[in-house]
Amino acid sequence: MRFLLNGHETEAAPRGAETLLDLLRESLGLKGTKEGCGKGECGACTVLVDGRPANACLLPAAEVEGASVTTIEGLSPGPGQLHPVQEAFVDAGGIQCGFCSPGMILSAVALLEGNPAPTDPEIRRALVGNLCRCTGYVQIVDAVRLAAQRGGR
Ligand code: FES
Ligand code: FES
Repeated sequence: MRFLLNGHETEAAPRGAETLLDLLRESLGLKGTKEGCGKGECGACTVLVDGRPANACLLPAAEVEGASVTTIEGLSPGPGQLHPVQEAFVDAGGIQCGFCSPGMILSAVALLEGNPAPTDPEIRRALVGNLCRCTGYVQIVDAVRLAAQRGGR
């Protein structure tokens, strides 16, 4: 099957019902997408499919044929550079162990694409599927608000 992965035409041959998460991590070597629960409950595996957040652990890889998939590796504007939302997470202390961060940041990017000036309740709603064990969420909401104030998407 063919799909667009972080802007690049990509060919892959998923095995049976292989999930997009396994295809990304095991076959394509993109380890930035994390596996937490493996059951659609934690959001650690969040990627963007045609701009919308999706749990890669639940999605059969074959279903993204022809779609555009963005992982955390695809956000960087250039070598050694961070996306503005990643910068805001660093600056606001929204990253501790970092396990939830790729999924959290991709959900935030999708939110800001559609709503560049979200309220705090809108930020919390957009991130409801992304669990974090470390931060207590306050700094994460701060980070998304900061990214919005800076106009970063
Ligand atoms: Fe996919 Fe938890 S690993 S939702
Ligand atoms: Fe550790 Fe969120 S920073 S789980």
